[in-house]
Amino acid sequence: MEQTYSERHKTKIKRIIYIVALTAALAGLLFGLDVGVISGVLPWLEKDWNTSTKDQEIIVSILLLGAFFGSILAGFVSRKIGRKKTILLSALIFAVGAVLSAMTTNPFAMEVVRFFLGIGVGIASFTAPLYLSESAPQAIRGGLISMYQLMITIGIVLAFVSDTLLSYGGHWRMMLGIIAVPAVLMFIGVLFLPESPRWLFLVKKVDKAKEVLTMLRNDEDEVKEEMAEIKEALENDSPESGWKLLNNPNFRRAVKLGIVLQLFQQFTGINVVMYYAPTIFKDAGFANSHQQMWGTVLVGLINVLATFIAIAFVDRFGRKPILYIGCIVMALSMCCIGYVFHVGVTTSPNMPYFAVACLLLFVVGFACSAGPLVWVVCSEIFPLAGRDAGITISTATNWLCNAVVGATFLTMLNVFGKDYTFWIFMVMNILFFFTVLLFCPETKGKSLEEIEENLMAGKSLRKIGR
Ligand code: BGC
Repeated sequence: MEQTYSERHKTKIKRIIYIVALTAALAGLLFGLDVGVISGVLPWLEKDWNTSTKDQEIIVSILLLGAFFGSILAGFVSRKIGRKKTILLSALIFAVGAVLSAMTTNPFAMEVVRFFLGIGVGIASFTAPLYLSESAPQAIRGGLISMYQLMITIGIVLAFVSDTLLSYGGHWRMMLGIIAVPAVLMFIGVLFLPESPRWLFLVKKVDKAKEVLTMLRNDEDEVKEEMAEIKEALENDSPESGWKLLNNPNFRRAVKLGIVLQLFQQFTGINVVMYYAPTIFKDAGFANSHQQMWGTVLVGLINVLATFIAIAFVDRFGRKPILYIGCIVMALSMCCIGYVFHVGVTTSPNMPYFAVACLLLFVVGFACSAGPLVWVVCSEIFPLAGRDAGITISTATNWLCNAVVGATFLTMLNVFGKDYTFWIFMVMNILFFFTVLLFCPETKGKSLEEIEENLMAGKSLRKIGR
């Protein structure tokens, strides 16, 4: 039987690929740092500036709104000036934004700077995975995209640790400013990265594209084969490509699935935990602020570790079984957290510990399922000609819903009470389960071309992976 391209080149991956990938994935680290840092800063803003609940919600969620616009902007910018310069731009925004946010003196200034930082986060969240997928050898492409998610979780936990250490002296400005250091390092690292070979092809710099591929691949044959593939893919680009493909009802079905999956990923409630973990620990009965901070570090660490479970099992067990288990675990944990608040945390000395155990279980459920897998599935369901547009829409949905959750959580606690707020998230996780059951395809072991063919032939979404 004839071997596929990836089978032929599976065993030989140049070391430089990993260096290139690691540098690009630093964008994920910064994304995580900026998302994670705020939970440790909020209690100090409340002390120093007397910030209201509304201000706190805006400070958290305005970054996400910025990321929403950034992810849409990135689609156009990265096509115009190239992937590398776009990632450089995001590193610059990360660095300048970190310094500015450390210097703000009132909630409004903080909100403006966080919006600006959000644009950087959005640009990075679109461009870095795109750069990775365009530069990586096919055989390890999935792994490199998962590495990006891993970097996000590492960024979040590093921010939690640095927040905790700096909290002893109440140095909240330093918590925000220190992020400039990795941002500058990333900027310098990215300066040395090659441009994406596929983008170079797109703007007709074919010689340069060949030069980059020669650097990243093993031999002349591999380079020639990949050049031919890219050329063919570009020639086959039908007039109905990119955003115009939205006229095609089959493509629209994939777009709707991408939107719904990202919506549910956010409505699991994960970022309630990420942004407000110290607040939740406080409400669960841990009065000491250091206890709250170390508890938050534990949440971040569990988030990183459980992501490895997904990476290890996703290609063995498939996407759907893992998503089912994740949804059940998340729904049960939310149910129990709601219960703790319903009966009252003081009813038994063990209650606070039970609440923390449920919170950690929830994070495990998310990190080994919806966290990485929604991104994986969203990168698999779109046909090549519309992948940019499809991923832009699903990524923007992720940020928008993230902003909605971030902006409403504290208000939800006030309006519905703690118990019912967590029970609402329980219901969302149950709905997520049924959405996966009814609409999500199992894409394990299928080539992207097979999935595309099934989708465009009109097969039901659930069956496009069969
Ligand atoms: C989500 C983020 C979340 C992170 C937590 C990602 O998959 O999109 O919103 O903060 O996981 O690890």
